[in-house]
Amino acid sequence: MNRRTFIKGAIALTAAAYISPSFGNKIVFGAENFKWWQKKPVYQIYPKSFLDTTGKGTGDLRGITQKLDYIKSLGVSAIWLTPIYVSPMVDNGYDIADYTAIDPRFGTMEDFDELIAEAKARDIKIVMDLVFNHTSDKHSWFLESKSSRNNPKADWYIWRDEKTNWRGIFGGSAWQWCEERQQYYMHTFATQQPDLNWENPDVRRALYAAANFWLDKGVGGFRIDAIVYIKKPKTFVDGTPDAPDGTCAVHNMIANTDGILDFLHELKREVFDGHDIFTVGEANSVKPKELKYWVGKDGVFNMLFEFSHVNVMFNNGDEVWHRSKPIKLSELKKALSNSQAATKDSWYPIYFENHDKPRSVNNFFPHGSDKILAAKALAIILFTLRGTPFIYQGEELGFTNTQFDSIDDYDDISSHGAYDLARSDGLSDKEAMRFVQKFSRDNARTPMQWNSSANAGFTTGKAWLPVHKDFVTWNVEVEERDANSVLNFYHKLSALRNSSDVLIGGDYAELYPKNEELYIFTRNLGDKKFMTVVNFTTHKVNLPDKIFDGAKKVLGNYADEKNYLRATEAAIYEF
Ligand code: GLC
Repeated sequence: MNRRTFIKGAIALTAAAYISPSFGNKIVFGAENFKWWQKKPVYQIYPKSFLDTTGKGTGDLRGITQKLDYIKSLGVSAIWLTPIYVSPMVDNGYDIADYTAIDPRFGTMEDFDELIAEAKARDIKIVMDLVFNHTSDKHSWFLESKSSRNNPKADWYIWRDEKTNWRGIFGGSAWQWCEERQQYYMHTFATQQPDLNWENPDVRRALYAAANFWLDKGVGGFRIDAIVYIKKPKTFVDGTPDAPDGTCAVHNMIANTDGILDFLHELKREVFDGHDIFTVGEANSVKPKELKYWVGKDGVFNMLFEFSHVNVMFNNGDEVWHRSKPIKLSELKKALSNSQAATKDSWYPIYFENHDKPRSVNNFFPHGSDKILAAKALAIILFTLRGTPFIYQGEELGFTNTQFDSIDDYDDISSHGAYDLARSDGLSDKEAMRFVQKFSRDNARTPMQWNSSANAGFTTGKAWLPVHKDFVTWNVEVEERDANSVLNFYHKLSALRNSSDVLIGGDYAELYPKNEELYIFTRNLGDKKFMTVVNFTTHKVNLPDKIFDGAKKVLGNYADEKNYLRATEAAIYEF
């Protein structure tokens, strides 16, 4: 047993004596029994688009440090940073060339240490993104691996003489020919993101060492990227390149392969155990009923971002944008309720947005909905479901999708893959663009809007992605001044949720699951009860029963009260 493992074991034993009642067995209520990351929301930052302090057009770490008081005002316990490591930025940092160095575009290691310290002074932790399925093709490991078939790292990636017909997640083949080795390497995502070979223990050791480097720096946890793809099947055989339901082959063939949990338990033992951190895995295709193997007492992570509610417009785990269908409210509700049920003895990360998804107002509310009412309605759900709310930068301001007219104006690599796939499936440029505009990840990546000055105060230079056209009326400064803004609504909701035992730990129960207009659920704890009611339509809806009887309205997106729900109306009631 090495020193680290030994110390971890000792800490784990001591920790067991005080074991949190919030895992495994039934929760013992009282907010004091919850972990720090259960009691408050988490704020997600896409550093490239947050705040630029140098005028180069891209955000940096100092920009985040400057805005810590703003972030603290949202009542959060932690900030999750998407990757800030050295990267060629083909996939905006998810193609890592050095796991333990800061990309100069974001600043220096001193800037990072300062961020950790300043955040700590405000009782906020910094959570890092671990991208362990793949590296950049410019990582020294890959450069060595591809140089010959018999170098020390020859087996660190997935090399084969033959390729299969699998399509990759960003479009095109999942295999790339390499001249030096006269072999193909596999890439689940972009060509420049070769998949690591997790079967090789040296690879795993190197990855664990990288994660432990950040723990030694004092980070508060990890979001673990694309984790369902790390285990590959024993043999690679052709799948249908594009199955009739739209599933892309690489996802179909490798996601959640048997044996994956053995790797993950090792990661937990070697990195997570013994630290007061939280971990949240990104796990497209893990079904709610499988969640028990992934989270909680017998699982690996504290929480899991599964995709069932955000992908409800797609037929499966894969996302072929031009084959999306209109959302049926009962299906969205079912996805949320299934996840709530599957994590009732563990914990759930509640989210509607992140850097990969369109803005939630556009995504979940019908065209024509009032954007401010819709943003507040989603916020009510975000803060009243059971779990930790994850707020994505700009969501607290009610940001909406952007729109570029030509595919050439989109930066997001997956938008280009999706466009090409739509065109090869016979869609016209105009039709293909309609789906890109709707689903592009750039919708979530336009710069933060701080004020009404040039570039919304994001940069004094040329913003890397155009600022949203509405920034003059829609920004932090304007919303801070407006008592009825989405931002001030978030402040109220966060204060309400963070101080309520019922909203933190109470049981979830859905009412009227088949109703296609309203989402109604309760949170119950002993004899205390909250009820959330949301009208997802743009018209007046009568209530199915006298469900408000005996209830007091706590907060809503309309100030007054009726005995029916107006367009996009949402409210929280207390009994
Ligand atoms: C995850 C990230 C996404 C990235 C992909 C490949 O899904 O959230 O942004 O492109 O993994 O690393």
